[in-house]
Amino acid sequence: MTAAPTTPAPERAASGLLAPPSGRIRPEGEGGFSASWFPVALSSEVGVGQVVGKDFLHGRAVVYRGADGVARVRSAYCRHLGADLSGGTVVGDNIACPFHAWEYGPDGTCAHIPAGDRPVPRARLFPFPTAERYGLIWAFNGLEPAFDIPGFDGVDSDALASRVFDDPYDYPVDPYVIFSNSLDLQHLTIVHELRLVEPVRGFDRDAASIGYRALLTSDDFGDMDQYVKITGTNIFTMDGVLGGARFRALAAGTPTVPGHTKNYSVVFAPRDAGTPEEVENMLIGMEQFTVFLTEGDQPVLQNIHFREDTLLSGPDQALMMYLRHVREFPREELPARFCR
Ligand code: FES
Ligand SMILES: [Fe+2]
Repeated sequence: MTAAPTTPAPERAASGLLAPPSGRIRPEGEGGFSASWFPVALSSEVGVGQVVGKDFLHGRAVVYRGADGVARVRSAYCRHLGADLSGGTVVGDNIACPFHAWEYGPDGTCAHIPAGDRPVPRARLFPFPTAERYGLIWAFNGLEPAFDIPGFDGVDSDALASRVFDDPYDYPVDPYVIFSNSLDLQHLTIVHELRLVEPVRGFDRDAASIGYRALLTSDDFGDMDQYVKITGTNIFTMDGVLGGARFRALAAGTPTVPGHTKNYSVVFAPRDAGTPEEVENMLIGMEQFTVFLTEGDQPVLQNIHFREDTLLSGPDQALMMYLRHVREFPREELPARFCR
């Protein structure tokens, strides 16, 4: 994607509070959904020849893995009478409906009708561009991916061991509200007891992402030098050093039913950082730290009523830039229409 100009510093209102980003942030589903990558299932949930159904984009999707081993995400409702294909069967690389056994091929179009009719071109599921990365099966909300699933600068992701886990919480908010947390520097001190050592530096923004660098410290965990990036409106990556050790993590949220998000997390360690057992122990330690942060946020995130006329103060500069990024992020309507 082409780089957009760096976001100008926000204007300060006469009151001393930051002027909120103009225009409201529409809820996901209003005017489409963020044109981003969304994790839909854990890779481990979908073996060869298996299909699972998921709430996705306020509708329903299926994830199946054909005989070729490739995972595919499709809209879930059959174009014949609307049966949910998650109750269907994988036949080779096709998915067959449980009701009258219409079969849909790898490109999403109906390939076979057992009753003998010739399939019409309109008999088609939405073929979400699908990728499998970090133990997750991702779908792009659009016809063509506009950017890649993020990784870590200068690191080959194959050189990283990872540990994926799905968050047990159902978040009663859109994904952007969860990830606004990582640019909300005031709450880091109040909720997580992480103190900023120096002002935030290195803001950057392009058409797909917004990021910043910060140096924090904690009595329990030591210093934390982190580069945080939000890609789309729903994918958080952090590349940092925590207590002297490299810490890389990713979290990504997916709109399920209106106003709700399912979140997945991944932590990473270099494969050559020690014996396999040592690397696994590092990953477990990082997972525990991630869960500690996630749990700290629950009392607020489970009850928050994020206001459209939100008032921001001076230390909210990063948050304000992020909200502007979310408001301006492109949306796509078509895939969700297939999923309803
Ligand atoms: S509803 Fe799927 S084949 Fe009839
Ligand atoms: Fe938090």
